[in-house]
Amino acid sequence: MKPSIGIDLGTTNSAVATASSGEPHIIERATGQRLLPSLVGITQSGRRVLGEEARLLAETAPDMVASATKRFIGQRWTPELAARSRQLYPYTLVAGPTEDVRIKLGATTLPIVQVSGMLLSELRGDAEDHFGAEVRKAVITVPANFTDAQRQATREAAEIAGLQVLRLLNEPTAAAMAYGLSHGFTGTALVFDLGGGTFDVSVLEVKDGVFTVLATAGDPYFGGDDFDNVLVQWLLSHVQDAPSRERITHDRVAVQYLKIIAERAKREVSTAAFSRISTVLAPDAKGRGIPLESMLTREFFEKLVRPKTEHALSIVEKALSDAMMSASQVDVVLLVGGMTRVPLLRTLVSKHFGKEPDSRVDPDEAVALGAAVHAAELVDKKGKTLLLDVVGASLGVQVAGGLVKPLLKRNTMLPCSATEVFYPGQDGQKAVRVPVVQGESKRSEENARLGQVVLGGLDGNSLRKDHAIEVTFAMDTEGLLSVTATDKASGKTEVVQVDARMDLSTREAEALAQQEEKHRNAEPTLDAEERRKNRHARRALHGALVSVRKVHKELQTVGEADNEEAQALIEQLAAAIVEAEGIETSGTLEAVQAMTVKLMQLIS
Ligand SMILES: Nc1ncnc2c1ncn2[C@@H]1O[C@H](COP(=O)(O)OP(=O)(O)OP(=O)(O)O)[C@@H](O)[C@H]1O
Ligand SMILES: [Mg+2]
Repeated sequence: MKPSIGIDLGTTNSAVATASSGEPHIIERATGQRLLPSLVGITQSGRRVLGEEARLLAETAPDMVASATKRFIGQRWTPELAARSRQLYPYTLVAGPTEDVRIKLGATTLPIVQVSGMLLSELRGDAEDHFGAEVRKAVITVPANFTDAQRQATREAAEIAGLQVLRLLNEPTAAAMAYGLSHGFTGTALVFDLGGGTFDVSVLEVKDGVFTVLATAGDPYFGGDDFDNVLVQWLLSHVQDAPSRERITHDRVAVQYLKIIAERAKREVSTAAFSRISTVLAPDAKGRGIPLESMLTREFFEKLVRPKTEHALSIVEKALSDAMMSASQVDVVLLVGGMTRVPLLRTLVSKHFGKEPDSRVDPDEAVALGAAVHAAELVDKKGKTLLLDVVGASLGVQVAGGLVKPLLKRNTMLPCSATEVFYPGQDGQKAVRVPVVQGESKRSEENARLGQVVLGGLDGNSLRKDHAIEVTFAMDTEGLLSVTATDKASGKTEVVQVDARMDLSTREAEALAQQEEKHRNAEPTLDAEERRKNRHARRALHGALVSVRKVHKELQTVGEADNEEAQALIEQLAAAIVEAEGIETSGTLEAVQAMTVKLMQLIS
């Protein structure tokens, strides 16, 4: 049987899993990691780096690393979107030829779907290494409230990675499957998923392996990053001198560095009572800069982020009221997403529901594990699990006065369809346009525009009332929409699959898919053993780079930044590692290791 995989394509982290006889497990990366940070970077030499490697690059060249691109997938470029991203991220977003969003990393411009495609391709490569065979079939998860355009774009990213999408599965449903709710559980489950960049709450009803999504609510711009930013502001307030503070606020590298420190401190206070922060901001070549010393206690962290946690709970309430339920009627609460490791969130959630949440499954891995379970079921075709999802955001038609006539309301169960009759705006029209919008606002301009159906060939001589145009919206179980418009007088019909492929032309998409394939199969002349050795070397080089950085910091804190011999060695090491980029042979590794040992001796 051909292997199948489940992929959680996350804003912050992604993961790939597979299931054999119903038991899912994460496929580890060659470097031993279980999660792939959703980062793609371009090095100075023009090489593509992903995951951990890109994270290292982000410490020194944050504007060369694409992060959180899931926030922009399937969106149209607007000046507001670009401005918003500039506030949050160190890179620049530009418009593609059809107003699609592209990310500029130095001289390279990548369509957003390509960035996602690269991440998927990397995970596919990990799975192929694991199976020692080609892997094509995957279930890929998406947030429950993803619009049609975002779903289509995710499919396109999968195509770039050469993956055949068995199904796009809503993340909360996947999480519930990882908890085994498809077998022997009957009741309601609330999935609380707080990741790095998005928050989703879903209320599911489960009966005999049938999942029904009763309601979803969320905030696509809320997650762990927002907690980190609160800490960044707090850290900045330590810099007493106003001009220095101003300088740091405008230094992208320094801000990125502060975010990394903040995130680390946030993680530390999840398990420890406090986290000590001791570093130098915006250091020069000799390591001299603005010293930052502080201590974050868990108690103070909880005070700082209290408003954020309240926001999260208000969304929980919204989901419950959409599902017409009270908190006490929920049978199980599932915690998903790395942020649910924060003790305060756990406490608040259990208080809110009056019961302990279930967190047996690792919160970072649940979504990928559930996707793997479902992929195996779909491939075996013997899975009994049925999924009934809902419309994530209302769909309607733009009518006169810039208003919206909704056809499919949010939270309607899938598959579903609805029909309405419309009339042309004026007498004597030869064609009618049916603009399709998605969102909750009554005003069309405040919603996402998905596309339009154009029905031509009307005779042009009749009154508007003689041309009843019947419009049908049909959404399938994956949340893909087709819109049909029929002129009742002539019987003429037009159908569009509302397609988000405003992004890429087919030709460009094919070229990108080929490029990915080539990239995955790089080093084809090496045998498996050599490849494994090189991977090992690369991993060890990263380790060396990390310890060199650590040593560098230690030197700074003990006031030894002027130790010339150590400095020279550090520079040599960094150069050797950079040079090894792309080659990473065992030879370089040995040299680097020898230098590291010498460095350690020198400073101990
Ligand atoms: N031990 C921990 N303590 C506190 N926060 C943590 C911990 N581990 C991870 N996080 C936070 O969890 C977030 C990442 O969560 P996760 O990997 O679930 O995100 P994601 O699924 O990629 O994002 P999204 O669901 O928004 O697409 C980050 O903000 C990270 O800092
Ligand atoms: Mg997630």
